[in-house]
Amino acid sequence: MKNLIDIKDLSIEEIEELIKVAKDIMQNPEKYSEKCKYKKLATLFFEPSTRTRLSFEAAMMELGGNVIGFSDAQSSSTSKGESVSDTIQVVGCYSDIIAMRHPKEGAPLVAAMKSTVPIINAGDGGHNHPTQTLTDLLTIACEKNRLDNLTIGVCGDLKFGRTVHSLITAMSRYKNIKFVLISPEELKIPEYIKEEILEKNNIEYIETNDIEEKMENLDILYMTRVQKERFFNEEDYLRLKDYYILNINKLEKAKKDLCIMHPLPRVNEIATEVDEDDRACYFKQAKYGKYIRMALILKLLKIS
Ligand code: NCD
Repeated sequence: MKNLIDIKDLSIEEIEELIKVAKDIMQNPEKYSEKCKYKKLATLFFEPSTRTRLSFEAAMMELGGNVIGFSDAQSSSTSKGESVSDTIQVVGCYSDIIAMRHPKEGAPLVAAMKSTVPIINAGDGGHNHPTQTLTDLLTIACEKNRLDNLTIGVCGDLKFGRTVHSLITAMSRYKNIKFVLISPEELKIPEYIKEEILEKNNIEYIETNDIEEKMENLDILYMTRVQKERFFNEEDYLRLKDYYILNINKLEKAKKDLCIMHPLPRVNEIATEVDEDDRACYFKQAKYGKYIRMALILKLLKIS
């Protein structure tokens, strides 16, 4: 595997191996502190980011490597009209691996076709976000001790939320996974995910707009933000943005070992009172993101 564009680029065995390496890094960080000496990661972010970009940068630094890049397309030659394909060919001359986020679906795939160095998709429009999913898988593996036999509630913007699309794709490969898809009518999961992933793999799922309906059955509750930047009009966004606000009351029937996740950034969808609850895993999840990205960089650079 040269690039990571879609979570399906990784087999279950490869994911298992990445999780194993990430866990080893957490326990023995010093063993890895010079693995990427003299290597450079370029982070090309054509769309805003905090966690993904900074966790990639922290990951490379903790491997002893260096980082170059930009966090705003306006400060790059894109603003002069340069194509993604040209930018990638140039950046490939200065770096060993590239993490790229772009508002256009498929842009990282196009970049990978032109690139001489490995490309990591750090989010493409409302499509995919495979490294967030690796983060989510490591979180689930550490917090629940398993990746199978889980009932997963996914709540919020299931239409535009790219983390949701990649997560459902990944989890559908494990045994006895059930989904409760919680969203307002307008933000339901796209048909292609239902047909090509859920139905094709015979995954049990229900769709509802009520967050409490199946609360007592959930092992994981994955909350998401309404994706403001993908809306065509402000009015719809304003109407839907506070549709779900998870608070302690709504968790009344939830399991004691429920794992509450969120890719972050949070807007209003989880009340801050939930942060104190032992079941809130979202800040731990952000931390796991750095370790799995370290494991991924090593894999793509073929460093053991
Ligand atoms: C997510 C994204 O960019 O899709 N953020 C992240 O990478 N952790 C989720 C979001 O922006 O809502």
